[in-house]
Amino acid sequence: MPEPSLEQIAREARENAHAPYSGFRVGAAVRCASGRAFAGCNVENAAYPEGTCAEAGAIAAMVAAGEREIAEVLIIADSPAPVPPCGGCRQKLAEFAGPDVPVIMATTAGKAVSARLKDLLPGAFAARHMEDD
Ligand code: THU
Repeated sequence: MPEPSLEQIAREARENAHAPYSGFRVGAAVRCASGRAFAGCNVENAAYPEGTCAEAGAIAAMVAAGEREIAEVLIIADSPAPVPPCGGCRQKLAEFAGPDVPVIMATTAGKAVSARLKDLLPGAFAARHMEDD
């Protein structure tokens, strides 16, 4: 059987999103350099700031499985235009994805745009900024 696409697994995770406050369900999936893929969905909380984004869930699943290197990202939501990752998630992705990694932003209706992480987060803060000179 062929591997499910990144979009399929993100779409499936989105179905499980816990978004009773915003009503806005998001799914995300990351493909690793190894070929393994991990998905996440947004998980909101009655204490609103405690909610987490779909991208954070996918990254947590990836790290828990022992992976560290993201090769591709896909985010999907039921929105009129493809939803870009929030600022915090751009930084979270940059921890495990290089500047040229494609971030595909898709809608459930079938629109999609792709951008490289470096264009979504120019001048990213990284571990090297904490090195001694
Ligand atoms: N959200 C994500 O999960 N990922 C994004 O890239 C944008 C926003 C979630 C957070 C919150 O649960 C809901 O969408 C509305 O902001």
